Amino acid sequence: MKEITPRVEIDLRKIRHNAEMLKKLHEEKGIQVTGVVKGVGASLEIAKVLIDSGITSLADTNISRIKKMRMAGLKATFILLRTPALSEVGQVVQFADISMNTELEVIRALSAEAVKQCKVHSLILMVEMGDLREGIMIQDLPAFIEEVLKLPGIQIAGIGTNFACFGGVIPTEQKMREFSTLARNMQKRFSLIFPYVSGGNSANYQWLKNTKDVGAINHVRLGESIFLGRETVHGAPIPGLYQDAFCLVAEVIESKLKPSVPFGDRGRNAFGETVSFKERGVIRRAIVAMGRQDVLVSGLRPLLPVEILGSSSDHIILDAKNVDLKPGDEINFSLDYGAMMSVMTSPYVYRKYLHTDEKDDSSTKKTPA
Ligand SMILES: Cc1ncc(COP(=O)(O)O)c(C=O)c1O
Repeated sequence: MKEITPRVEIDLRKIRHNAEMLKKLHEEKGIQVTGVVKGVGASLEIAKVLIDSGITSLADTNISRIKKMRMAGLKATFILLRTPALSEVGQVVQFADISMNTELEVIRALSAEAVKQCKVHSLILMVEMGDLREGIMIQDLPAFIEEVLKLPGIQIAGIGTNFACFGGVIPTEQKMREFSTLARNMQKRFSLIFPYVSGGNSANYQWLKNTKDVGAINHVRLGESIFLGRETVHGAPIPGLYQDAFCLVAEVIESKLKPSVPFGDRGRNAFGETVSFKERGVIRRAIVAMGRQDVLVSGLRPLLPVEILGSSSDHIILDAKNVDLKPGDEINFSLDYGAMMSVMTSPYVYRKYLHTDEKDDSSTKKTPA
């Protein structure tokens, strides 16, 4: 019997291997790892694997996914990775142990809510180090901390910063030293101890490998390097990790010899785009039953020697080249982070988990080349 398509095949053993390796690598330098599960839609199966690999904290940008993990009974410290919206502070205090914050107005609301819920909510204050997404400007941080310390129901668990997410700014040795010095100064100035000096994400891999001194940094938040085995500054594979824990499988629904250029008067396509086509004569065009509503098509790479020509909402059109494709054939695709995120949050893509019951099978584990 044919399997459901489109489906994403998720090798839990490979994810576990990557998580264990990264945890070890970081812990050797005194750095704790939080698993960032937003890229996999906070899949409970994957979150459990991260916990089994020894990771004790999980982070997501979306409070409803943190709620989902907590309600499922997962035992971890849950971190909201994005500064809360004012409209969600109630849920944030209820379901997240820690949230990342940059706005006093939001922190005041968290404080009031924490008092109401008889809780102490922890904060990581995000600092702007140049990537220009979220963060308190360095010069504003002392006054900011002073205000936060006046508020009941909350505590500062540390400071954090983020790189290579918006502006592509690299966590260089100099940047990391600057952030480390800032963390030390703030702790000294306010007589605080920061359990979290959270230095970045999968973009920090080269820094981690090369630095002789991690300074005050004691924490990172990793998503892509765990799931896809890559650092994110250059997209380079991390030695010893798997890059193929995820594979998307789609099914051919049409395969015909047709011209390579549309014929007839032409305007815009369904997405308002004016597309140009290369004249290749008559080619074998194959269609797979998957489209932009299922996946970020630009992040797919077919594992057969065929070429993606384009896509609409529900179709991806391929130049099949010399591959003899027919309806019912399956084509495998590798995924980048954006494509992985889109399939893992799509209700239309079936998830098939591989190696679901292998808790600890180091005797049969094969390390990637
Ligand atoms: C604040 C923050 N930290 C960490 C991460 C994880 O980044 P990466 O997947 O590159 O490790 C993200 C993005 O998912 C993020 O927004």
